[in-house]
Parts: sequence; C-alpha cells; structure tokens
Amino acid sequence: MKIGLLGFGVVGRGFYDLTRQRTDMQVAKVLCLEDVTLPDAQVTRDFQDILTDDSIDTVIEAMGGLHPAYEFVRSAMDAGKNIVTSNKALVAHYYDELIPLAEAKGLKFRCTAAVGGGIGWLSEVERSRRAQTIYQVGGIMNGTCNYILDSMARLGLGYDEALKQAQALGYAEANPTTDVDGIDTWHKIILSSNIAFGVSLDRDSVPAAGIRHITAGDVENFKAHGLVCKLISTGKQENGKVSAYVQPTLCPEGAPEAAVPANYNLITLMGTASNRMSFFGQGAGRYPTAYNVLQDCVDILTGKGFYSPYGEKVAAVNDGLLRYYVRGGQWADGEETWGEAVITKPVSVENMHAWLKENPDAFIAALPEQQ
Ligand code: HSE
Repeated sequence: MKIGLLGFGVVGRGFYDLTRQRTDMQVAKVLCLEDVTLPDAQVTRDFQDILTDDSIDTVIEAMGGLHPAYEFVRSAMDAGKNIVTSNKALVAHYYDELIPLAEAKGLKFRCTAAVGGGIGWLSEVERSRRAQTIYQVGGIMNGTCNYILDSMARLGLGYDEALKQAQALGYAEANPTTDVDGIDTWHKIILSSNIAFGVSLDRDSVPAAGIRHITAGDVENFKAHGLVCKLISTGKQENGKVSAYVQPTLCPEGAPEAAVPANYNLITLMGTASNRMSFFGQGAGRYPTAYNVLQDCVDILTGKGFYSPYGEKVAAVNDGLLRYYVRGGQWADGEETWGEAVITKPVSVENMHAWLKENPDAFIAALPEQQ
C-alpha cells in the first residue's frame, strides 16, 4: 500500500511513526504546510503532488475540519484512491455523498478512528451487525468532555481550568467549542447510528446539548444525590423508528459510565443476541487514534470497505420521556428543586431540546431512566 498522508499534526505524525518499520504499507508523500523533513517520505505543500501520483493508492486524511478536507477527499476518490480518515465531521456531513460514491466506484473507505479514538468501535459494530440486530448504541464518546467532568467531580477543579488541561494534553479539537457543545459527540452518534442501524440520519433531527454551562454547584448537587454527570450519546432503533440525541446525563454512582476516568471513552451497543457489549479505551490522543488509522489500512489490505451498506434517509423521532435537572432559564413545570435547579416532570427529549434552544444559557442534564 502506498500512502499519501494529508496532515502532520497529532494523528498524522502518530500514524507516520507507527508505520515506519512496516513492510506492508509505506507513507510515500505527506501534505504538510510546515517545514518538516522526513527521512523516508516526500513532504509537499501541494495536494496535487499526491492527487496526480498514480503510485499512491490510499489517501489518509488526518487534517480535521470540513474544508479543504472534503475537497481533497472527494478529488482523491474521483481519482480512484481509497480513503482512511479520522475526521468524524467530514464523514457525518458528507455521508450521503461519500459513502454511495465509494460503493459506486468500488473504493475502500474506512473511518474507525473517527469514533472512540483508540477503541475499534466502528469495526466492532461492523462485526456485530453480521450476527445480530443492533438496537442501541452510544455512551461516552468525547474524551475532552469526560476529562473536564471527571476533573470537576473527582478533583474539584473549575470548568475553565479542566478545559485548559484537556487542551494542553492534546485531547480537544482545534476549536474546543466543538467538544464542549456536544458537536463532536453529535458527529459520532450520527455516524455510529448510521452504521449500526443501516440508515442515513437526517442531521437536523438529532439534537445535541453540551456541558459549557456546568458549574461546581451543579456537580455538588449531583454528588449529594449519588449521581455523576457525563456527556452521553444515545441512538436507538425500535419498531423501525430511530431516535438519536446527545445530552449531559446523570449516572448513578455505581454505573459503569460514572467510573470512566480522564479522557477515556465507554461506548456500548445493545444487540438482540449479545445484549450489552461495552468498549472502554482511549478516546483521543496521538498514538491511540493513529493505531486505528493503521488498523483501517490493514483492513483495506484484507479487502474491507465501508462498514455497512448505505441505508435509507430517516429523521430521528425523539419522543421518549425523561426527567431533567434544569438550572437557569424559565422552566415552569417542576416536580422538585435541588438548590437553585428544578427537576422536571417527564418531558420528551425533543421538547426539552427545543426549550434549550430558547434558553441557551441554561444547563440541563437528564436523570437516569429508571429513577
Ligand atoms: N476532541 C475529541 C475528543 C478527539 O476529545 O474526544 C477524539 O475524537
């Protein structure tokens, strides 16, 4: 396999390091705008050098962001090159174009590192759906948010300090609002649901709430009730109906999610045969993420393409009822109060997120379903 590597940041550099001693694949050219010299790969600032090189059969996109990543990936596919990417925003946004295109052209397209970083989550979903129907996916999918929430709960750090540490450790996206507003997790649950359920979710029907307004006072409130706040994604398929959303969620102290430390992820699928299967590991970081980019290249060498056939376009229906912790904004219909926060009566996920849009400075967290 001869590789054109787009991007030489956290993931690109890690991938290059991991592949240097291998004989089954070689990074031939690296697109990098900085002055870097590599002993065994040509560094270029011009994507055309990679696009027009017919000896390069696989392009690895490790740039992040939508543009020019999309334009580069699309041109590489038009030129007949296989794609490996760790870019969940790219795949979630251009799913309806890139996945059918890969199918039509018989190209391999893999993006395992896009969800769960070092966990081979999408590969496991791919394997799992061969043997059963998956009816639920989700969990803790963002290392930055988990690092912040864990540091606040266990170490008593303030939100800003914890975010700065996550950035310094290289977990956060270039723009950390993508992490803390739940957008990164939103990309990941859309992608996971698409693959697990064999659909293409209408993105506008999937709401996301993040953690940017959580305070030390909220964390104290949760502790007093034996609860831990985590940013949780949910995708469900039941009787042909799909629901999908991202929101801060209160987990009982004994739940596996509550114990997830630092930047780790814990992602779970529910299947008709296996019941619960959970995957725990490094959700971000150079070598864990590069490891799954490398695994995708090996999978391509063994003939694997995308994880599931492209499926029909569906809108999520989020009519399930939950109770919520709400602080800030004007929530009229409370059942009880926790300090200055209100615990709502059961309300649909859809209605709560619509309310949050009108009250963007409020903080919400779903209570556990069984409470
Ligand atoms: N910013 C992401 C996270 C990187 O914190 O999980 C991995 O997708």
